[in-house]
Amino acid sequence: MRILLFSGKGGVGKTSVAAATGLRLSEMGMRTLVMSVDPAHSLADSFDVSSSGLFHSRTFDPLRVAPNLDIHEVNIQKEIKRHWQEISSYITSVLRTSGMSGVEADEVAIFPGMEELSAMMYVNQFRREERYDAIILDCAPTAESLRFISMPATLDWYMKHVFPVQRGLFKAVRPIANRLSPVELPTDSYFANIRDLYAKIDGIDTILENPQTTSVRLVTNAEKMVVRETQRAFVYVSLHGLTVDEIVVNRVLPEAVQDNFFAEWRASQLHFLGELETYFNPVPLRRVPLLQHEILGLDRIRAFANLLYPDGANPAAVTRTERPYEFAKGNGVYEVRLRLPFTEKAEVGLFKKGDEMVVEIGTLRRHIGLPTSMAALEPVRARLENRMLVVEMKEAAQ
Ligand SMILES: Nc1ncnc2c1ncn2[C@@H]1O[C@H](COP(=O)(O)OP(=O)(O)O)[C@@H](O)[C@H]1O
Ligand SMILES: [Mg+2]
Repeated sequence: MRILLFSGKGGVGKTSVAAATGLRLSEMGMRTLVMSVDPAHSLADSFDVSSSGLFHSRTFDPLRVAPNLDIHEVNIQKEIKRHWQEISSYITSVLRTSGMSGVEADEVAIFPGMEELSAMMYVNQFRREERYDAIILDCAPTAESLRFISMPATLDWYMKHVFPVQRGLFKAVRPIANRLSPVELPTDSYFANIRDLYAKIDGIDTILENPQTTSVRLVTNAEKMVVRETQRAFVYVSLHGLTVDEIVVNRVLPEAVQDNFFAEWRASQLHFLGELETYFNPVPLRRVPLLQHEILGLDRIRAFANLLYPDGANPAAVTRTERPYEFAKGNGVYEVRLRLPFTEKAEVGLFKKGDEMVVEIGTLRRHIGLPTSMAALEPVRARLENRMLVVEMKEAAQ
């Protein structure tokens, strides 16, 4: 099975590229699902589902739009009813105690990450059921898709460090606290709900970090602001152990446009295409031209796919198998190696906490679980070498 994640800044063309990739794979005979993880869904619009007389809302479950091709727009209201009942009713009750009205509390009780987590649960479920050969994830703009990517690690951390403490604590104090406190403490079913959800994403982190299965493709435009955001996304995705195997540069001005009006645009695109190539090398760029119209409906999506993947190129091919980081041992020195293009040494913070190493780059942070053989070691030195952050680890002095 293949999982392809399309991420990037708002409006760059993620949904169009995801739709085209899905259509191409389905036409190659793969059972394909395109799933939207962007709360502002536009997948159904892209496939022009409503004009074919089908109800838009039907996409809250996978909906067949072409042979071998389903689309799915995760709907948070539905998901709350299906999976989050205990958690959200607890949060709602807490919010109501603080004077919020019912409807308002319902809205606020949708906390950040619920949507992403729900999508993650479906990916895991469909994978277990072997329902599809390819799952294409049409992600929200960069910030939210980073939350999606970090979800398994965040939840893992919570389950390991916070959950047991919180649960034990509440068990002990609940009989007294409920008499004193204006707010109900969470019940056992609240914790059971959290544990259920956690079980539903079990194993997904390994799948996402395996480049044979999962690839991240960053969609971008050849413009300064978009390029910067693509770089940040690249660092963060790598930090989370996922492999970026392609940068898709959308809306490149076609040669045919020779109008003087666009001369400056063309020069600046050329410049940023060059920058993109230098930054991301050896990750390949795929260029797609700006079209004369929106990409709506199957025929246009197919035409776009032909530009995107000419000569029958297979978008599911595995082209990069290097993991973004690895643990190595040589000459008695242990090393953690992180592939981090365009990172300055000064931007990188590093410390050890328990059996985890915490890497910070700017405002981004990742806990990396160390293998047992390295868990007792301390980072002693870090260097940037060949676009690689190399951290030397030694036994702590007693
Ligand atoms: N290469 C292109 N040429 C012309 N229009 C495009 C191109 N790529 C995307 N579009 C149009 O731009 C709009 C935004 O694209 P979309 O794929 O929804 O972006 P995103 O999902 O990143 O927000 C859509 O109307 C889409 O049809
Ligand atoms: Mg979109």
